[in-house]
Amino acid sequence: MLKNFRYSGPSDILFGVDVHRELGAKIGELNGNRVFVITDPGVAKVGILEKVLKVIRDKGIATGFYDGVVPEPPIESVQEIASKVRQGGFDLVIGLGGGSPMDVAKVVSVLQSNDDPIESMVGTGNVRNRGLPTITIPTTAGTGSEVTQIAIFTFEKEQTKKGIVSPFLFASAAVVDPVFTYDLPSHITAHTGMDALVHAIEAYLSLKANPMSDMYALEAIGVISKYIRKAVHNGEDIEARYFMSLGSLQAGLAFSNSSTAAVHALAYPLGGTFHIPHGLSNTLMLKSVMEYSFSGNLARYADIAAAMGENIDGFSEREAALRSIEGVENLAIDLGVPTKLREMGIPREAIPKMAEDASRQTRLILQNPRRLGVEDIEKIYHNAW
Ligand SMILES: [Fe+2]
Repeated sequence: MLKNFRYSGPSDILFGVDVHRELGAKIGELNGNRVFVITDPGVAKVGILEKVLKVIRDKGIATGFYDGVVPEPPIESVQEIASKVRQGGFDLVIGLGGGSPMDVAKVVSVLQSNDDPIESMVGTGNVRNRGLPTITIPTTAGTGSEVTQIAIFTFEKEQTKKGIVSPFLFASAAVVDPVFTYDLPSHITAHTGMDALVHAIEAYLSLKANPMSDMYALEAIGVISKYIRKAVHNGEDIEARYFMSLGSLQAGLAFSNSSTAAVHALAYPLGGTFHIPHGLSNTLMLKSVMEYSFSGNLARYADIAAAMGENIDGFSEREAALRSIEGVENLAIDLGVPTKLREMGIPREAIPKMAEDASRQTRLILQNPRRLGVEDIEKIYHNAW
């Protein structure tokens, strides 16, 4: 198909071992004089926050920080952090951590120049003004949030997750240093790494895929499939850590210009209602969603199998497509990640309500390679149970 497309992202990406040491110079380029770092308690505890603050202070730049971001942050928590930034007169915001601190930082930035209530920004294109310069620094290899224009929050009353999507959420710079992932425990490496793989797979299968997102998606699928086992089981392997950070970044560059699809849509209720970590939720849904959707685009499923390094020589297109599903299932088994909802204690009776919730994630559902309605979603949940 001859598709027109638009490709956008942050204007600057710094990638590599110890690249965080260039942070002071980057802040200078962005004219930052008072820098506010947003992170979570885990990142603070392992000393990464202190390391980052020191690099900035060594350049004579004033700093402030907030280290209390919770996973799957509730939307209400963001306003309070935004007030601290305003009251302290800060002029540059850094998001340091997994997806949650980076997403919070991106929205805190735009809240400095938009008086609208944060709830009115939910959806696509509802942020009116650009915010403060932002720098995103991931400490996991998974979310890709460092390069996306998306921020996801939990809406506790509705027990679901929703996104704010705006070009003003692109960071001014992403600083991706694999060093920050060296000490991640293996189960977090596995969950976040699977999230990155799902980003790449869904970006490639999405109806919004384009030649640029395809390029990053296939590259990411290959890199992640090759290195994820090593990174999970030999966390000290710095080559595996380097390539997982790279694969996660490439997957982010893919899905931010394509989209994710039904895996993410069906995973959200698991996070919103049962507080299952995001990467694990995606892994739980991956196989069943792929089984449902594969006949919607056999050729692309076959490409995924090839990118994963599955041997498809002499296979028909359908057989090759099925190899991609086998490939992701084997990966989850090898990594020791649960693949069934019942293993997580989710009651089967919860399925109808989860299916209702998932069907409302139209931003994602509508991009799936095969159409799906509430009844289809229920069937997929039952297969995943
Ligand atoms: Fe994700």
